[in-house]
Amino acid sequence: MQARSIRFVKKLEGNVDDYVAEAINFIQKNVGPEEKVICALSGGVDSSVVAGLFTRAIGKRLHLIHIDTGFMRSINGKYESEIIKERFKDVENFEVVNKREMFYDRIFGIKDAEEKRKAFRKTYEDVINEKIEEIGASLATQGTIRPDIEETEGNIKSQNNVDTIFNVNRLVEPIAGLYKPDVRIVAKKLGLETYMRQPFPGPGLSVRTVGEIDAEKLKNERVANDITERFIENYFMSLYGKECLFEPVKGNRIPFQYFAGTFDSDMDIVPEVKKYLEKMGLKNVFPFVLRNKTTGVKEVKEEDEKIRRERIYSHPILLRGCLDSVMLKKLGEKIPENFEYSRVFYEVFDRPDNLIGDYLVAIRAVDSEDALYAQPLSIPLSQLTSLGEKIIKKTDVGIVAYDITPKPPATIEYE
Ligand code: XMP
Repeated sequence: MQARSIRFVKKLEGNVDDYVAEAINFIQKNVGPEEKVICALSGGVDSSVVAGLFTRAIGKRLHLIHIDTGFMRSINGKYESEIIKERFKDVENFEVVNKREMFYDRIFGIKDAEEKRKAFRKTYEDVINEKIEEIGASLATQGTIRPDIEETEGNIKSQNNVDTIFNVNRLVEPIAGLYKPDVRIVAKKLGLETYMRQPFPGPGLSVRTVGEIDAEKLKNERVANDITERFIENYFMSLYGKECLFEPVKGNRIPFQYFAGTFDSDMDIVPEVKKYLEKMGLKNVFPFVLRNKTTGVKEVKEEDEKIRRERIYSHPILLRGCLDSVMLKKLGEKIPENFEYSRVFYEVFDRPDNLIGDYLVAIRAVDSEDALYAQPLSIPLSQLTSLGEKIIKKTDVGIVAYDITPKPPATIEYE
């Protein structure tokens, strides 16, 4: 049975102190004096803010669990669940629940992105429901924010924290009115060190390991993602100083989000795109279509002029050849406009000696205000090439490419 959702949908418009006080008040009004509440803590900024608000509102009646789904990333080679375990070791009512095998059993081998997301969500619900019973919680909370609701309602992606089925009688969602930049402001106010952390999806690396997953492909993804995150962070810190990862640059967090996606490396040349490129005078650029599909989003104008978003699920195109940044920007927009391909990748490094690796890694690094629109960041080719070389040295990846597609028509994540 789906628990009744009680959402605090207030936007952060005025003073942040007033917002925090009202959110706490909202929680206290909606939680009975004896009730126990369960909250899954991913370690990201949204769930951390929810945990912070609930702790202030109801103290020890909040039970925090971190589910180790097996799809957590590594940071400098250390598995994230280990880092979280360490960070919260002194918090009462906090537990790390290792459910790797259960998630692997249910998710490995699924090809379709939405099916994978749904299987992940069901497993997540099953684990939480087990814990709800154990703790005797009558209420749950989670870090659903406004874009999660909008994108699920628009059928773009099934977010793992919208319409969740928990065996409690109420689901209290205190930050459902906020966009990401507002959540960060509240997090800073609550004194959370993760306030400027880049977003990380609930289903973790399962939506970045594109198509069917097995242990080997996931291992490659985890290593490639770690190398990519560290490299891009260092590059932007060298430009804007260390603070850029904690303080907004020109109003935004730059880089907003950066990671790697792992694809199978099977691909075929696409004659119709080849002809299109030739017409533009790009005779030595070769377009390949990848076997795996990715999720995208299309904006459609309704009769009343309102813009509606629709989900796209299509194959990415890989471009191989010599292109400058102006042309890359143009092709990232034009190819999806003219063909049924919602993503464009540009090859930046391939395995020397013609040894073909099993995987293609796409690097995604975007600038965005609220995750509803995003632009690929411009990073010099020399930097991307050396990142590609690092990835190939440490993995079975054969090709490294840079994702040059904005959102829309691509989403930020791959699935
Ligand atoms: P997309 O990929 O739809 O993502 O452009 C927009 C923002 O949401 C994050 N994201 C998720 N966050 N659960 C989450 O908590 C999810 O299932 C999920 N999927 C995407 C994504 O990383 C980006 O910041």
